[in-house]
Amino acid sequence: MRISLRQLSVFLSVARHQSYTRAAEELNLTQPAVFTQVKQLEDSLGVTLLDRIGKRMQPTDAGRVVVEGARETLDAVGRMEMRLADMRGLREGRLTLAIVSTAQYFLPRLLGQFCDANPGIEVALTVTNRQAVLARLAASEDDLCILGTPPEGLDVVARAIADNPLVLIARPDHPLAGEVNIPPERVAREPFLLRERGSGTRLTVERFFRARGLTLPMRMELGSNEAIKQAVIGGLGLGALSRDTLALEGTTGALKVLDVAGFPLLRQWQVAYPRGKHLSVVAQAFLDHLVAHARQAVEAGPTIARIAKEAAQE
Ligand code: PGA
Repeated sequence: MRISLRQLSVFLSVARHQSYTRAAEELNLTQPAVFTQVKQLEDSLGVTLLDRIGKRMQPTDAGRVVVEGARETLDAVGRMEMRLADMRGLREGRLTLAIVSTAQYFLPRLLGQFCDANPGIEVALTVTNRQAVLARLAASEDDLCILGTPPEGLDVVARAIADNPLVLIARPDHPLAGEVNIPPERVAREPFLLRERGSGTRLTVERFFRARGLTLPMRMELGSNEAIKQAVIGGLGLGALSRDTLALEGTTGALKVLDVAGFPLLRQWQVAYPRGKHLSVVAQAFLDHLVAHARQAVEAGPTIARIAKEAAQE
C-alpha cells in the first residue's frame, strides 16, 4: 500500500468541506488535482471514500475510518516535526495560522515583523471566514487561530489582542451619510449588503439588529469584505465591516462611516488555540509577538485612526 501524507491531508480537506471545489480553494490547487489525490488514495486503499449526496461529498463508512486515521497520522507527524523544531529553537520551524478574512488587513504586518526577526521560519496562513476558522480550531489544525470575537462553545484558550470595532458604511452621497446619531430602526429600512453565512461580521451585525427586534433587508449577499466595499461604492446599499478593513478607503474618501446609535460595535481581536494543545517554540514566540504588538499594529495606520476619530467626533 503506497499512500502519502499529501493524499491524506487533501482527503481531510475534502471531507471537511464536503466539496472538491472548496478543498481546492483552501489548498490552492486545481479541482482536478484534488480529485486525483483522492482517487489515488482510494485506489491504494481499495475502498470508496466519498459518496456524492446531492451537491455534497460525504465520507462513506470506510471514509470515516480514513478521516480518523488521517487525523491521527498527521497529528503524529506534526508532533514529531514540532519536537524536532523545538530542538532547533527559533532558527527554523513552521508556523500554521488560520485567520478570519477581516484580520488579513493587519495580521500580515505583524507576520512580516516576526519573519524578519526569525528568517528561518516557514509560515502557512489560511484566510477564511469565522465558521471555517472555528472548524479548524475544533480540529486543532493550526498552531494559532485569529478571530474577530471570542470563539463560543469550544474548549479553547483565547486572548484578546486588540480592539476590533465594527462600523456601518455608506457611499458619501447617501442620504444617511451626513446625519448624526441615526437610530438603528432607520438603518434597518435601507437595503443592506451582507457577508455570506458563517461570517463573523454578518453574525455580529445581525445579532445587534435582532436584539432590537429588527431584521436587515438584505439586498445582496457577498463573499468578501472587498466585494462589500465595492458594492457600497457602487450604490447598492449599506454595509457592515470591521473598521480595520477600511485602511485604504479612508484615504480616498470613497466610503463614509455612518454615525449610528450603538455603533461602532466594540469587539476584540482574539488569538485562540485548543486548551491543552502543546504550543511549539515558534507558535509561543508568535503568540508573545501578537500580545506585545497587535494593538499597535492595528492602530498604526494613520487613515484607520482618522476614520475612527471622525466617527467618534461627528
Ligand atoms: P469574518 O470575520 O466576517 O471574515 O468571518 C470575522 C469577524 O470579524 O468577526
